[in-house]
Amino acid sequence: MPASTHNDTPWWKKTTVYQIYPRSFKDSNGDGIGDLPGIISKLDYLQELGVETIWFSPIFSSPQADHGYDVSDFRSIAPEYGTMSDCEKLIQESHNREMYVVFDMVLNHTSEQHPWFKESRSSRSSSKRDWYIWRDGRKSGGKKPPNNWKALIGGSGWHYDDHTDQWYWAQFLPFQPDLNFRNPEVKEEMFDIVRFWLDKGVDGYRLDIINAIFEDESLQNNPFTWRYFPSEDYSTSFFQNRIYTMNHPDTFAFVKELRSVVDEYTDPERILVGEIAASLEVLRRYYGDTTAGKKTNGLHLTFLFQSLNAKLDENTFRGLLSNFEQYFPEPLTPTWVFSNHDQMRRITKLGNDIRKAKLNATLQLTVRGVPFIYYGEEIGMLNHRLPLKTAQDPIAQRYKWIPQTLVNLLTGSGSLSLNRDDCRTPMQWDSSSNAGFCSEGLDPWLPLSPGYETANVDSEETNPDSLLSCYKGLLQLRRETPALHSGSLFLLLPSPFGRGHLSFQRIYDEQVVQVWLNFSSKPLQISEISENPRLLFSTLKNTNPLTASQLHLEPYQGVVIGIRP
Ligand code: NOJ
Repeated sequence: MPASTHNDTPWWKKTTVYQIYPRSFKDSNGDGIGDLPGIISKLDYLQELGVETIWFSPIFSSPQADHGYDVSDFRSIAPEYGTMSDCEKLIQESHNREMYVVFDMVLNHTSEQHPWFKESRSSRSSSKRDWYIWRDGRKSGGKKPPNNWKALIGGSGWHYDDHTDQWYWAQFLPFQPDLNFRNPEVKEEMFDIVRFWLDKGVDGYRLDIINAIFEDESLQNNPFTWRYFPSEDYSTSFFQNRIYTMNHPDTFAFVKELRSVVDEYTDPERILVGEIAASLEVLRRYYGDTTAGKKTNGLHLTFLFQSLNAKLDENTFRGLLSNFEQYFPEPLTPTWVFSNHDQMRRITKLGNDIRKAKLNATLQLTVRGVPFIYYGEEIGMLNHRLPLKTAQDPIAQRYKWIPQTLVNLLTGSGSLSLNRDDCRTPMQWDSSSNAGFCSEGLDPWLPLSPGYETANVDSEETNPDSLLSCYKGLLQLRRETPALHSGSLFLLLPSPFGRGHLSFQRIYDEQVVQVWLNFSSKPLQISEISENPRLLFSTLKNTNPLTASQLHLEPYQGVVIGIRP
């Protein structure tokens, strides 16, 4: 294969992203909390792993009530994470290693501790009153919220402030009041903040709940729906269809304006990745219009959360692949995400089975689209079931009253977690008592996940058969193979060779690569693959699955085959 990534594909379409939850990655100063110098000390690891972009969950000043998603100053760094000069060094050192840097931008809301909100709530005539969304209540003496709108996490999204006898709106938690983007001063200030970090060299933003920016101005009630539990399509949940609070037409226009701000910067092109839980139709609209089949004018990428809970079987992935290809054809680019800081870790959903984790990674790193890897996913870090009682996660704290036995019953089957701490445990660097996250004898901010004695970077680095080696092999192959990072994708027809597997072809110019994934617990024999197939990658070492033009796949094995160089 030509070992070159140099082609016309923009960097962000062929990149691979690694998400760091800064609090949990590496502590350098002995307070049990991860920090920026800690991350800098691990950049060589990320470069060797082979990821090309790093996304940092928020590092701005914050009371940390939602661990950084509650910002109190968008232009400074949280002191527990470091200083502005640490941050500048982090950007520079990442760039020195040819990695791009994506920051997490929370435009929708601030912390209630932000000086803007403190000023806003101080009086009805405050100069910043209109920076947030304040309304009178309903019914006798205004003691009922202005309308029926619910927060994304359930319960009314309106919160009464007795000092000024009005209610403020918060899409998420009560201490995260929504900014009012209908006020031009707010928009201007937030766009300046976007420019502030781009000027410092940041290569793009992951945009927190960006589809929640605008709500209906006339405050019409959201209609009832029978759905209670949220799905990936967040717009219906808690018996409410959020037609007036999510995906408002003004939000679609807003992302185009935001795009024009980041487009002021070139070389490299800066990008926007939307955190949007919605149907594929809605997600497609956030990419904007395409001009001359080449460029979009909305978000560059959006997470497609449809993959988060995908069952590891051929029908599910055949369906996802064909839907993603149908909704996001070139010049659009899908994304592939299986874990993040809000979700149960993928490997635990796969029964903590390393074979399945390797198969899943093979799919994620060989399909068309940008893969997002969550820290620790590459070493098989397990979800840790931590008690709600001691939860640090503010959402889990709301469920503290549920008896633990009931929690265990509800979450027993393994695919539900009520506590986001479970997936945020310290990164496992080695087998020492604090897994190398912080010095021994300290208390890390969250307990370590079980199994760190074996699932850690140190032990896996030297084992060619480890999950870590599997990720490294795949990332390297993807980087060096234009068909994989820039090629088109064609599903191969359901095979006559037996059920339980999926195969697709990636093509770039003359280069053709095939990916074969056996999702079943039975071996599989496939004859007449093509002439002269070459094995490029296999999840199983020490066996050659190819003999002449025959392919033999062991249970849960994935392989990548070169058909034409
Ligand atoms: C989505 C983020 O992923 C989550 O962690 C955060 O709590 C909410 N947005 C609120 O900002």
